[in-house]
Amino acid sequence: MKERLNAGIVGTGRYVPEKILTNRDLEKMVDTTDEWITTRVGIKERRIAAPYETTSTMGAQAARDALADAKLAPEDVDLIITATITPDVPWPATASFIQRQLGATRAACFDIEAACTGFIYGLSVAQAYIASGMYRTVLVVAAETLSRITDWEDRNTAVLFGDAAGAAVLQPVSEPRGILSVYLGADGSKGDLLELPGGGSRKPATHETVDQRQHYIRMKGNEVFKFAGRAMAQANKRALEKAGMKIDQVDLLIPHQANMRIIQAAARLSSLSMDKVYLNIEKYGNTSAATTAVALAEARLEGRVGPGSVCLLVAFGGGFTWGACLLRL
Ligand code: ACO
Repeated sequence: MKERLNAGIVGTGRYVPEKILTNRDLEKMVDTTDEWITTRVGIKERRIAAPYETTSTMGAQAARDALADAKLAPEDVDLIITATITPDVPWPATASFIQRQLGATRAACFDIEAACTGFIYGLSVAQAYIASGMYRTVLVVAAETLSRITDWEDRNTAVLFGDAAGAAVLQPVSEPRGILSVYLGADGSKGDLLELPGGGSRKPATHETVDQRQHYIRMKGNEVFKFAGRAMAQANKRALEKAGMKIDQVDLLIPHQANMRIIQAAARLSSLSMDKVYLNIEKYGNTSAATTAVALAEARLEGRVGPGSVCLLVAFGGGFTWGACLLRL
């Protein structure tokens, strides 16, 4: 029988667009204030993609960064998984565009869509391929251009989102390194609380869907809010149980950066102090699938974690989906 291989992260990368949109800028666009956004959400500014940038161009930049970090060449990559809710086009997959831009000619490519939990779902898929022995080098790219599906006239959502890309390269690693456990959750009955209603087979794009602003994010913020903290805490608990570990063995919690109050609730419910929680919501806002990938890359760059550190990535998002990934770097 084939030996099960441990999948681990051997490189991380990130890319954020240059343009910064501050809360003060937003005050001129919708009826909001810096004070409201800072205290209710925890965001001060977010990045906005340039007109020539797309999810794949940002994803490819993050992927180059991750491959350089792993000291690997694009030809080494066996599989590219892109997690996104803002693909370049409905199809082909954004992973295919990234493959072309990287010149990763040997790689198989597909996208997954699990909204803000996409990076964690992507890591779980990479782990399964590596553990099975089917692939050796898997690139997981989480990239979003949410500015293109944000209704800039709706203050309820316009203040929340930004653009960014993060990437991780996974390969077989030896114990005790690697992904220790993954827990994934979903509840399809809550799908309509957070959605993009138009443009799919249910409501193909028409003049009417455009006039009704159905190609933008729609969210019942309060309902999502109530669910999110508990879901992340439950995912943390399940991931720790699966690995037979305790919360005090975690060096850094890397949560989805949607709302500071949700992160605080998740940390409190997980009995973790905030000094063990990585935060960059203030400068990037909610970049959906990209938040945990960018945060992991930045935590490594800043030396918050290094070889041997135990990280717990946790997220929730549209679907609903939620999940956590416990790993040792
Ligand atoms: N500026 C000023 N006032 C505002 C703004 C704004 N930008 N947005 C809402 N308000 C007002 C509302 O109109 C309301 O006013 P009212 O009391 O006069 O009616 C008041 O503020 C309170 O509104 P709530 O919606 O109750 O505010 P809440 O405290 O719930 O915060 C928020 C709203 C930030 C959206 C919060 O509910 C939240 O973070 N929800 C979760 C969102 C999220 O995490 N989504 C993640 C998934 S994204 C994905 O999957 C792509």
